[in-house]
Amino acid sequence: MSSSRTRLAVAATAAFALATQLAIANAHASPAPHAAAGPAGAQAGTSYTAAEVLAGVKKNSTAANQVNTKPHINTMTRAQNVNVYQVATGVYAYSSGMAIDDDGSDPDPDPDHQGDTTFHDSNGKALAAHHVPFFVLGDDCWDRKTPCPHFFYKEHGMSGRQFALMFYNGKVIGSIFGDTQTANDQTTSDNDSRELGEASVKAAQLLGIPSSGTTGGVDNGVTVVMFSGPSWVVNGANADLNNNAQALVQKALDTLGAAMAGTNPPPGGTLFEAESGTLSAGGTFDDNHSGFTGTGFANTANAAGAYVDIPVTVSAAGTKTLTIRYSDGTSGARPATISVNGTSHGTLDFPVTADWDTWSTVSISVPLNAGANTIRIAGTTSGGAANIDSVTVS
Ligand code: GCU
Ligand code: CA
Repeated sequence: MSSSRTRLAVAATAAFALATQLAIANAHASPAPHAAAGPAGAQAGTSYTAAEVLAGVKKNSTAANQVNTKPHINTMTRAQNVNVYQVATGVYAYSSGMAIDDDGSDPDPDPDHQGDTTFHDSNGKALAAHHVPFFVLGDDCWDRKTPCPHFFYKEHGMSGRQFALMFYNGKVIGSIFGDTQTANDQTTSDNDSRELGEASVKAAQLLGIPSSGTTGGVDNGVTVVMFSGPSWVVNGANADLNNNAQALVQKALDTLGAAMAGTNPPPGGTLFEAESGTLSAGGTFDDNHSGFTGTGFANTANAAGAYVDIPVTVSAAGTKTLTIRYSDGTSGARPATISVNGTSHGTLDFPVTADWDTWSTVSISVPLNAGANTIRIAGTTSGGAANIDSVTVS
């Protein structure tokens, strides 16, 4: 369990708070991120910087992506103003302060030092707070509700030694989920499972934050980005866990950078929005799922034959590639027939996407006339067509 902390006097923390704000301002002033938008960022093999990924995380930390419905508590300041955002599928971010956890197998002079941590190394030993960068999350759901009104790690595919990127003052490190805030059977203001913002001595050292368990920490400016799922659990002994976590940093930056770019990149070519078209009976142009371009997307009726007609214009006749941007948040593909000016050119599959906010593309070659053409996308199954965002001609 995590220890309680002795926080710095308010006057003493003012300098840290100012430094933090400057660091954040600098991070935001970094060059235009290719992680934020644009097809270039979606290219395989693109290498992302910490500043680019942090900018994308901040951009995706929107009300629509907020996971918790009740605020978390900043462990250092006690302010109830910390939220958790799903910034990409299965990736969760929060910004808070950092209180210092010195628990575990390393000795520490802190009178509150405890010998154990909730999670252990791969040999079953308590984690070593001076050697392993780890972060702390709530032990349980404080409200005792399912789903939890707060971010509760067990509801989000997270377990012990789950990897996270931690950003502070222009730096980024890898860390692991190592310890938990004591359960809600405690009534003191400290050790409350709604708290967010505690990490080990080693995490503080790597980020340049005062790392004493009694006088260290920082009030704000630390962003923790947690990667869920079994493939992001870090294994190793206490002696190896730091190296093993740092070895994942660039992979995590690249994975998240690409995933965030993928939330909104229109394909290359001349783009025609679906909402400039017309729908068969029962269809609507909607904007209730994120990531579309223009003002919305076409939602056809759920019926075989339901369609959207999209006008596209080209200067010269010829065979062109149509790239159709769509989402299908169901569990089954939404095949649709593609017709140009009333002539069918075959059926495309439109495979499922992760959810209705995730967009993918399918392509087909078709002949187009010079001037105006009408592209019809007509669902062949009872679900109708997928949600259609746009057609790009190239
Ligand atoms: C949901 C979703 C719509 C979608 C529809 C469908 O209602 O919100 O955007 O079009 O499912 O299954 O077609
Ligand atoms: Ca629909």
